[in-house]
Amino acid sequence: MASTDKHYSVEERTPDYDDYMRLRQNAGLTPFSRAAAEIGLAGTVFAVVVVVDGQVIGMGRLIGDGGCFFQITDIAVQPDHQGRGLGKAIMTAIMEYVNTMLPKTAYVSLIADVPANKLYEQFGFRETAPRSVGMSYIVK
Ligand SMILES: CC(C)(COP(=O)(O)OP(=O)(O)OC[C@H]1O[C@@H](n2cnc3c(N)ncnc32)[C@H](O)[C@@H]1OP(=O)(O)O)[C@@H](O)C(=O)NCCC(=O)NCCS
Repeated sequence: MASTDKHYSVEERTPDYDDYMRLRQNAGLTPFSRAAAEIGLAGTVFAVVVVVDGQVIGMGRLIGDGGCFFQITDIAVQPDHQGRGLGKAIMTAIMEYVNTMLPKTAYVSLIADVPANKLYEQFGFRETAPRSVGMSYIVK
């Protein structure tokens, strides 16, 4: 466990469903059904939560195939705790895992909701355009 200061702690564990959905909603991210989220959370490669006063107020996850391709998802900090370096603390923990545990040549990608791209740039992520562009499809 790493500490950001005397109040916040960054813990290496996957958020449970209730914390996951509450944080996604409070951070303005799209919701998922309980069934989908429970399957998704079980597929986590690595995750951290930020805890203060026993409450989970931040999270971030790494998902992937275990060898070649990985994605950083669910980077979120509850709004009343934003702007205090917690997003950086979450990314620091995830990138420590990425750089020490993943095979060389692993391709780690993410879709950045602007202005969070400024956070990811600080950890070495670069826009892929114009050579390649991110594309997405949402099942209806
Ligand atoms: C993105 C998010 C996780 C950042 O968390 P945070 O604890 O506020 O971030 P930090 O205090 O560690 O700041 C880290 C960096 O994020 C960037 N950043 C975060 N919010 C920003 C904003 N509103 N405007 C510009 N830059 C911002 C900055 O580059 C900042 O670095 P700097 O202080 O050196 O300039 C948080 O704003 C959040 O939960 N947003 C809503 C959900 C979301 O968009 N998640 C990302 C999905 S891709």
